[in-house]
Amino acid sequence: MDRDANPAQQAPAGNGPAQVKISNLNKTFHRGKEAVHVLRDISLEIAQGELLVLLGPSGCGKTTLLRCLVGLEKPGQGRVELGDTTVVDADARVFVQPNKRDVAMVFQNYALWPHMKVAANVAYPLKARKMKDELKNGRVHEVLQVVQCDHLADRYPPELSGGQQQRISLARALAPRPALLLLDEPLSNLDALLRIELRAQLRLLHRELGFTGVYVTHDQEEALALGTRVAVMKEGQFEQIGPPAEVYSFPATEYVADFLGARNRLELHTEGDGRATVAGVPLEGFVRPGLGGRFALRLRDADPVLRVAGTPGDEDRHWITGAELIEVLPAGDHAEHVVRLGDQTLFVDVPATRGVFEPGAKVDIGLATDSVLCYDADGRLVRDWAAI
Ligand SMILES: Nc1ncnc2c1ncn2[C@@H]1O[C@H](COP(=O)(O)OP(=O)(O)OP(=O)(O)O)[C@@H](O)[C@H]1O
Ligand SMILES: [Mg+2]
Repeated sequence: MDRDANPAQQAPAGNGPAQVKISNLNKTFHRGKEAVHVLRDISLEIAQGELLVLLGPSGCGKTTLLRCLVGLEKPGQGRVELGDTTVVDADARVFVQPNKRDVAMVFQNYALWPHMKVAANVAYPLKARKMKDELKNGRVHEVLQVVQCDHLADRYPPELSGGQQQRISLARALAPRPALLLLDEPLSNLDALLRIELRAQLRLLHRELGFTGVYVTHDQEEALALGTRVAVMKEGQFEQIGPPAEVYSFPATEYVADFLGARNRLELHTEGDGRATVAGVPLEGFVRPGLGGRFALRLRDADPVLRVAGTPGDEDRHWITGAELIEVLPAGDHAEHVVRLGDQTLFVDVPATRGVFEPGAKVDIGLATDSVLCYDADGRLVRDWAAI
């Protein structure tokens, strides 16, 4: 993609001064004769106090980007500036070693030293940086208190639960007050409830301590909950960068929409005269006159509603007829309904309070235009597509 034409590359940083400036970063791995271009000309500024969340599928280059920032990978091209210091400048052959960068990283697998007590693990980066005053003034216990693990100071990591170990790794990373904190899927090894609890604590910590961070996750809920901005990656580039609410409500491309839960896809054909078909079913008054061509509609599971075919339904919705209910999967407060429409399969969440539809039933699917996302043939978001 032409870099100048990619709005993600030009996204403004947050409010504060830029703490991290990444310019035209490229990383290629060589395996025998094969070259894998993993980071493709990435440019990004991260403001002081921002927690930027990197979201993207497996293999898109998230960990590689963090490793370039911390100094565990050497980019082939580009620059990285941390505050006033240039830590990477490929052209000028500048490469600052990891231990000389003011950057800390928290890994998915905790990576604590098993033979060292918790307190010694946390003290380690302070010793390595010769921060004698911090050591003397109780910084180790201070950060252990911050993560609510002061009582574990004399234990060894293998004697701790996964959640405790991850809190200790966070304390170890925070101890030297790094200019940049990198977190690579720090909660993904934990069970669902603990993940939600630690996510809330991390959010609080970020608010209280105001550190600058980059947080990698696969989990869109985590991204939306924690990020001051969310950057969605695709094959080594940013597809969209923006505040969580904006990325969620207006995914710039169909790829981002899919990644942020709008997994249901319906084809829209319009003639430009206001007439339209959705999945081959004619709909009156659905699209605005003047909109002509082929489009893809994207819907989240909670957006459409169902009715038994031909029965009365909400008149404000546009009803697509001719669908069949294939399966119903109860999920507590709602049930996931698998619906077949022509050769398409849709997933629709029906709140438990709305009753249960029987598998095999003929159903209609009701769309509300304000919750439907529309993309053109290039996969770009189309706004103002709907009839008023
Ligand atoms: N040392 C390496 N040598 C060769 N290829 C590598 C190396 N490290 C990473 N890669 C490749 O680079 C690509 C990006 O890997 P990376 O670990 O950055 O992905 P990721 O987005 O973090 O994925 P995941 O979500 O699975 O952790 C992958 O195709 C991977 O196989
Ligand atoms: Mg990774």
